[in-house]
Amino acid sequence: MIIAIDGEASTGKSTQAKKIAKRLNINYRDSGAYYRAITLYLKRNQINPQETLGKDLFSKIDISQKFKNDSFSIFLNGEDVTSKIRGHKVSVSVSEYAKKPEIRNFVYNLLRKSSKLNSIVVDGRDIGTVVFPDADYKFFLYAIPEIRAQRRHKEINDETVKIESIEREIKERDDIDSTRDIAPLKKAEDAYAIDVSYLAIDQVFEEILEKITI
Ligand code: CDP
Repeated sequence: MIIAIDGEASTGKSTQAKKIAKRLNINYRDSGAYYRAITLYLKRNQINPQETLGKDLFSKIDISQKFKNDSFSIFLNGEDVTSKIRGHKVSVSVSEYAKKPEIRNFVYNLLRKSSKLNSIVVDGRDIGTVVFPDADYKFFLYAIPEIRAQRRHKEINDETVKIESIEREIKERDDIDSTRDIAPLKKAEDAYAIDVSYLAIDQVFEEILEKITI
């Protein structure tokens, strides 16, 4: 079984995907975390988004995700980069890197490999449209930007970061993600859309669970 959770930035896709994985006892992959980890690697190596990336470069990037009990970790070449990839530096650049076909294909291969043997829930932007168009269940989460910024601000829990700058970053990412040529952010025709603006985490979760019959 494959479950795709797509949607706009900061709509709680990962939170829902993790809850589903736990409840149904299936695997979880955070596709955004792959794009973020690759961005971190490329920035550290001073490779900018305009450069063409050769195949040999990807052989130097090893990414793994571990989700156990309630804790999710992501490793880049053996280093735990879970918090680092959520930082502002990665957040403001990730969408420029995520436009690149070489990077997308690398991530697609990793995600499709993960789905070969086990049931899986994956969250992202193009999971139901491009990566797994035949997914058994597809959801699309959206919400008004002000509320998404408030929620992300609370999650970051850092008073030095202004809500306005989070809102700007979220809107910019949505804009780049939904207007790019390859795999733009958009609802799959057969996805079930949920406006999460005024719903609590558990309400969204219940709505999702109601649709999944196993
Ligand atoms: O959790 P949040 O909404 O902040 O974003 P994310 O899921 O971590 O994704 C970060 C960025 O990676 C997105 O803004 C996209 O630019 C890119 N991404 C993508 O292009 N395709 C995906 N399937 C997932 C993420």
